[in-house]
Amino acid sequence: MKKEFNVTPWEVSGDVDYDKLVREFGLEKISDRLLERMQKHTKELHFMLRRNVFFAGRDLKWLLDEYEKGNKFFLYTGCGPSGPLHLGHLSVWVFTKWLQDKFGTELWFQFTDDEKFLLNKNKSFEEIKKWTYENMLDVIAIGFNPKKTNFLVDTKHAGLMYKEACKVAKKITFSMVKSSFGLNESSNIGLIFYTSVQAVPAFLSSIIHKKKIPCLIPHAVDQDPHFRLTRDILPKLGYYKPASIQSIFLPPLTGNQGKMSSSKSNVAVLTTDSPKEVENKIKKYAFSGGQKTTKEHREKGGNPDVDVSFQYLKMFFEPDDKKLERIYEDYKSGKMLTGELKEILIEKINNFLKEHQRRREKAKKQIDKFLYKST
Ligand code: TRP
Repeated sequence: MKKEFNVTPWEVSGDVDYDKLVREFGLEKISDRLLERMQKHTKELHFMLRRNVFFAGRDLKWLLDEYEKGNKFFLYTGCGPSGPLHLGHLSVWVFTKWLQDKFGTELWFQFTDDEKFLLNKNKSFEEIKKWTYENMLDVIAIGFNPKKTNFLVDTKHAGLMYKEACKVAKKITFSMVKSSFGLNESSNIGLIFYTSVQAVPAFLSSIIHKKKIPCLIPHAVDQDPHFRLTRDILPKLGYYKPASIQSIFLPPLTGNQGKMSSSKSNVAVLTTDSPKEVENKIKKYAFSGGQKTTKEHREKGGNPDVDVSFQYLKMFFEPDDKKLERIYEDYKSGKMLTGELKEILIEKINNFLKEHQRRREKAKKQIDKFLYKST
């Protein structure tokens, strides 16, 4: 039978069935019981947790057990710098910042310039260096605590990371990476090695502090194959398996398939888009669950469950459950038209981006505070 969707770290296509992915990857869905436990520590629950945007993970129970015993974890996430960033990237980091604030944790943030160089036939290191810089501005603009956040750039911190990556690589065979990464005999050998580099920040802090420290990785579900392997290997090197908390993808504007992508400008809202560009993109491309004519819409109502504007409000831009519920009902009943729903979203995105872009400018002077320096 043909697979109707595909999710690997380097390709997301088709209509992703998340329940099927949970079974295939062997993930644990986040239960209400677990959310209650988290809430004991965080007081409130982030709406991305309440609404199952972060829907699955690994070893979260264990992580909380350790935390409650006083064995605090650190956070690890990352960014592949190959182009401009879009809202889909930001949503994972907005949530990561919330975790950092609530648990007061250290965060290791990896910029995988090597990965993007190896992956993209036509990208030079010069170009990727530019994107690394640009993407750092966006990450800083999220508001991470500079005292508790360490940026790692794979090629820049190679001296620190390479030996550790080799220790991981020595325990991975080609056949272990082949299918879950979509690699084959004609893949370049850099990519075959690469997963061992992405494993390193999951235990680097343990090396530096000379003790085993639990690690929590917030990420979109496509990165799971990396950390599945990392989890197999770290205990063999004397470290804990990293725990993870995983999100679904913010859909592309066009609604149908896969995840937002910066390389197709009509399917993603970029972090640097102007208010006018945001307005045009949403009006022109955001897939609508509305009816063809106003008359028909008033009679039959719209379908918020397939409407991309509604999904963006739910997943990112309307934290207030009551307001979201009202929009849902009004759209479904036909009281609210597609144009009106889009206006709500446009305003929300533009407010968010206005502040984001202001902080992004300020970030130009802050990069040095975030880069990890070994002492
Ligand atoms: N490979 C990721 C990407 O292409 C970047 C990344 C590195 C990452 N380490 C990570 C993402 C840890 C999430 C968590 O975007």
